[in-house]
Amino acid sequence: MTRPASPTAYRTLDPAGIRAFLAAQPALAARLGGQPDVWRVHEVSDGNLNNVFLVDGPAGGICFKQSLPHVRVDPNWKMPLDRTAFEAAYLRAVRPHVGDLTTELLHFDPDLFVLVVESLDGHVVLRHGLMQGGDWPDAAAAIGRFVARATFPTSPLALKFEDASTLLAPFARNHTLTRITVDLVLTDPYHPHPRNRWLSPELDATVAALRADPAVRRRVGQMQARFLTCQQALLHGDLHTGSVMVSGSDTRVIDGEFALPGPIGFDCGLFVGNLLMHLFATPAPEGRARALRDIDRFWTHFRQDFTTLWTNAIACGQSGDAYAAPLFRDDPASLQQVQTQFLDDIEADTIAFAALEIIRRTTGYAHVADFDLITDRTARAARQEAALRLARDMLAEPARTPTISALGALAAARAA
Ligand SMILES: Nc1ncnc2c1ncn2[C@@H]1O[C@H](COP(=O)(O)OP(=O)(O)OP(=O)(O)O)[C@@H](O)[C@H]1O
Ligand SMILES: [Mg+2]
Repeated sequence: MTRPASPTAYRTLDPAGIRAFLAAQPALAARLGGQPDVWRVHEVSDGNLNNVFLVDGPAGGICFKQSLPHVRVDPNWKMPLDRTAFEAAYLRAVRPHVGDLTTELLHFDPDLFVLVVESLDGHVVLRHGLMQGGDWPDAAAAIGRFVARATFPTSPLALKFEDASTLLAPFARNHTLTRITVDLVLTDPYHPHPRNRWLSPELDATVAALRADPAVRRRVGQMQARFLTCQQALLHGDLHTGSVMVSGSDTRVIDGEFALPGPIGFDCGLFVGNLLMHLFATPAPEGRARALRDIDRFWTHFRQDFTTLWTNAIACGQSGDAYAAPLFRDDPASLQQVQTQFLDDIEADTIAFAALEIIRRTTGYAHVADFDLITDRTARAARQEAALRLARDMLAEPARTPTISALGALAAARAA
């Protein structure tokens, strides 16, 4: 996927270095317009990992992202540089299928690990927008369409196995960031680990009960195996509400650096899990109603779009080697049955991965900001406890939440 960076070539660029770097790229300089000294370079890094700057010129803007040799917020946590290379490769793989549901890749520099994409000027990060009480009624449906259009065409449902293997194999080497997911999402929260933390001692008993529950441990183990062995399609790998930017009806997915082959329900589960946390965190009843609406819209549109892409591929004889067209072209009833089963399995994965996301975002290393909406610490802990209890039931008693719609109903009752 990436050739190793020449150790002498890499350096972390400061705003002056960014200006010089962009000035040396004619297409990027033309996009910005004017002379480099009038370009405005300002930092917008707000995540854990990379430096991100927006650059504006008289003619337009770009977004500049550079990997650092360590975690941005923890210089002692060393990390290889290749994550922007995976993000560039993800954009190349999915942009032809998802179009303007993500950003255009403008440039990638393999020595400096610099990624340049179009600037989403005037957009806000969905998590921040929701926390401020904003409403983007089209966003969840757009993310459902995004997941369908990024996963179906990159799966063996749409591709010959040789093509699927060639596409997916390089992403299976996204070891650094997949290790973060394996540790921080799927493992650490279920045993004592120095990186774990939670809001207050009031949550101690809930965390202890979760860890002690054999049904939880069995389901978590099963989801670890699903994540690592079920390579259904190319995933975004980090599809939370902080990886979505919105403006009016325009919805864009950003930050595909965690891309990997995996179970489609992982992408769905992260998005649903973050909407569920927003549901428990937001004090406003109308905000809670919108979170429930968005979970339903996301899932409905994902399922519809995925099914339509699949049905059309079979009808045109352009399906891949899995559920191959010759078996189903003249048997729509059987096609419908296998589609229903396939999507029901993704739904079950989605619910379980959403539970894992809630647990790791309240008891693991990286938390979500949504709960900061509740200023009183005891009240905040109580809402987190309610979210954790729901997550526990989603894992240990799956019969209570067999579908996204049943999950929505139970979540609504618990969050009221
Ligand atoms: N194309 C863009 N246009 C405008 N702003 C952007 C764009 N891409 C990212 N941003 C802003 O920069 C911030 C950081 O971007 P991004 O999430 O890609 O960085 P990251 O270092 O990978 O974060 P994390 O550690 O959460 O993975 C975003 O939250 C957003 O505010
Ligand atoms: Mg990121």
